[in-house]
Amino acid sequence: MSYRENLIAKNLNIDEKGHLTFAGVDTLDLAKEYGTPTYFMDEDRIREMCNIYKSALKDAFGEKGRAIYASKAASFKQMYRIMNEEEMFCDVVSIGEINTAIKAGFPPERLYFHSNNKTDYDIEFALKNNVGYFVIDNTEELIALDRISGELSKKAQAIIRVTPGIDTHTFEAVSTGKVDSKFGFAIETGAAEDITKLALSMKNINLLGFHCHVGSQLFDSDVYIRSAKIMLEFILHIKETFGFCASMLDLGGGYGVKYKNTDPDIDIYENILEVGNFVKSFCSENGIEMPQISFEPGRSIVADAGLTLYTVGNVKKIPGFINYVSCDGGMADNVRYAMYEAPYTVLPAGKMLEDEDLVANVVGRCCESGDIIQPSVLLPQSTKRGDIIAVCTTGAYNYSMASNYNRIPRPAVVMIKNGATYVAVRGETLDDLLNCDI
Ligand code: LLP
Repeated sequence: MSYRENLIAKNLNIDEKGHLTFAGVDTLDLAKEYGTPTYFMDEDRIREMCNIYKSALKDAFGEKGRAIYASKAASFKQMYRIMNEEEMFCDVVSIGEINTAIKAGFPPERLYFHSNNKTDYDIEFALKNNVGYFVIDNTEELIALDRISGELSKKAQAIIRVTPGIDTHTFEAVSTGKVDSKFGFAIETGAAEDITKLALSMKNINLLGFHCHVGSQLFDSDVYIRSAKIMLEFILHIKETFGFCASMLDLGGGYGVKYKNTDPDIDIYENILEVGNFVKSFCSENGIEMPQISFEPGRSIVADAGLTLYTVGNVKKIPGFINYVSCDGGMADNVRYAMYEAPYTVLPAGKMLEDEDLVANVVGRCCESGDIIQPSVLLPQSTKRGDIIAVCTTGAYNYSMASNYNRIPRPAVVMIKNGATYVAVRGETLDDLLNCDI
C-alpha cells in the first residue's frame, strides 16, 4: 500500500513535490497561510453534492423531489448561504441552527425544525421567525405547538416523525429495534396512528405528512426502499382510516461516505432513482397520489469536502509498544474517534512519496488518554515535530461537534473555491473563550 492508494476522494492528489493537494491547493501552503489546526472545506465539492441530490431527486420524482440539507453535519453562516444559493432546504435541530440560518439570509420557510425536545420557548421562537415546517416528535410537543400557534394566531405546518422499525445493521424490518428509540412514533405500537388522529383534530396544525430517518453512514441501497415501503403502506392505511392523503414523505438522511479506502463507493444518484422507481410503482399500484418525496442528507453533502490539517508536536517511540504522534488538535476539534471509534484516513501532507514505515497512534493534546484522532496510522519513519498531517473526510460532524475542552479555542473553517481560499468561520481567540465568563 502507498499513500496514493489512500487518496479516498477525488479532491485529494499528490503534486510533483510529494505534497498532498486538497481541492487543487498544496496543503503545506494552506497550513502555512492559515496555521494549524484548521478545518478546510472544498466549496465546489459541497455544491457538487447538492447538485447530485437535486438532480437525482428531480429525475426520480420530478417536481415532487426535494433535497433538504441536514445542517447538524456542519452549521455556520456561510454553509447556509451556500445552501440558499443551491436552492436547498435545511433541517435544523435547535434554535441555534435556526438563528444561524436566518442571520445568514436563509429563507426560514425552507427550514424543517427537528429535535425530540422542543421547549415552548423554541416553538415560539420558530413560529415567530416563520420556520416552514415542524417535524413532530412527541405528543406533548404537538399539543404545545397547537397551543402556541393559536396564541400567535398562526397555523403550523407539520410532519410527523414515524419510526418504521427498520434495523439498519441487518436490514431486516424488526419491531423492537426502533420501538425503543427516543425519536418519533412507532407504527407497530399504534402510536403513529394515534398521533396522526390527534394532529388531524387540531385547529392550529396543518398536517402535511410524515418523516422517517433510519440511520446514518448507510451503504445499502435496499434500506431506503424498505423504509419507503413501510412508510407508504402506513400512508395508505392512514388514508383508508382517516381519509387523510399525506402530501409529504421525508425519507431522512444517512447515505454513507468513504472514510477509508476499504469503505464501499456508493452511487447516490442511481440509488435515489431506484427508490423513485419503487415509490412511483407503489403509488400507482395502490391508487395513491405520490407525495412530495424528500431526502435529508447531512454527512454525504459535506464530509469529503472537509480536511483538517495539524502540526506534529512530538513523536514518542516506545520500543516493543505502540508509537505516538501528537498533534496540535485532537478530541476538541474531532471527537468522532473518541466517541464512536470512527475511522479516518490520515496522511503525511508533505511526505506523500515516502515509505509507510512507522505505525503510530495519532493523538491530540487534550489531557485525556482517549484523546485519539486515529490509532495505528501508517506514517513515514521520518515524521517529526513541525510536520503537517492531514486528516481526510472531516467535513461532517467535526466542526459541528467541536468543543472547548481544556479551554482550547475552536479552529477556523477555511473554504476553498476554484483554487482560492477564504475564511468562513474565523478561529476562536483566547479572548473569545472568556466572552461569557463573568
Ligand atoms: N435527518 C435526521 C432526522 C437525522 O437525525 C440525521 C442525522 C440526518 C437527517 C442526517 O444524517 P446523515 O446524512 O448525516 O447521515 N454525530 C454522528 C452522526 C449523527 C447523525 C444524527 N442524525 C457522527 O458523527 O457520525
